[in-house]
Amino acid sequence: MAPQVVLITGALTGIGRATAVAFAKKGAKVVVSGRHDDKGQALVSELKTLGAEAEFVRADVTHEDEVRNLVDQTVARFGRLDVAVNNAGFEGELGPIQDATVENFKAVHDTNVLGVFLSMKHEVRAMTGQDAGSIVNISSTYGHKAAAGGTAYVSSKFAVEGLTKTVALEQGNSGIRVNAVAPGLTDTEMADRFTGSAEVNDALVSTIPFLRRGNTEELANAIVFISSSEASYISGTVLDVDGGMSAT
Ligand SMILES: NC(=O)c1ccc[n+]([C@@H]2O[C@H](COP(=O)([O-])OP(=O)(O)OC[C@H]3O[C@@H](n4cnc5c(N)ncnc54)[C@H](O)[C@@H]3O)[C@@H](O)[C@H]2O)c1
Repeated sequence: MAPQVVLITGALTGIGRATAVAFAKKGAKVVVSGRHDDKGQALVSELKTLGAEAEFVRADVTHEDEVRNLVDQTVARFGRLDVAVNNAGFEGELGPIQDATVENFKAVHDTNVLGVFLSMKHEVRAMTGQDAGSIVNISSTYGHKAAAGGTAYVSSKFAVEGLTKTVALEQGNSGIRVNAVAPGLTDTEMADRFTGSAEVNDALVSTIPFLRRGNTEELANAIVFISSSEASYISGTVLDVDGGMSAT
């Protein structure tokens, strides 16, 4: 089977980075994307040492011209697009709604919602007419569970799951599968920012059935699986990778 051509947004840190490494180890051709050229080139060098063909394309997912260019550069370099992982996202400011700002709400939704919308728009364009394609949007436990203090982030991730299911339906039996992976608390810089202190972290971890954070490799493994032909009958679903959190 030909190697998969994989595109990952927000790939320079955390879950995106681990996913790039996991795909590289599987022999995929990987296009990593993000907003920082130096980190992008460093990651490409690392992926090449794993034997993968890899490229960095700079893209801020809130700008349609940059997203269009990312998809077009991927197809120009590797001839097709098999897998797209729409991972770029951030939590923004947290706190009760009466203290929340329009600026923060718009910024979080621009990246987490508009970014996923724009990414899928151009990825579907590129995948249309191929025999198959897989889009994986990164949601969150908070894509289907509320968290006090998270109006902007929670609503943005609920929207990601709505977008995922809508585009999955639009694609029907086209061969393009569209799914979301919903991480629970995962050991990245974002989780450190989100929890803010050891006390808050420990309190949150105590509510997770596994009593620990997930690690980025555990997320990457789920993303690789749902992108693969092993998941050929799965579309429009949300795969929780959260140590049992969604069952609480
Ligand atoms: N870590 C967790 O506990 C957790 C839990 C649930 C969901 N998630 C989701 O997982 C995804 C990855 O997060 P992470 O934990 O690896 O954090 P992270 O901060 O390490 O990774 C997010 C990446 O997205 C990039 N990014 C942000 N805005 C962007 C934009 N406009 N354009 C391009 N890139 C942009 C960041 O620079 C960063 O590299 C996010 O969508 C996040 O919401 C994380």
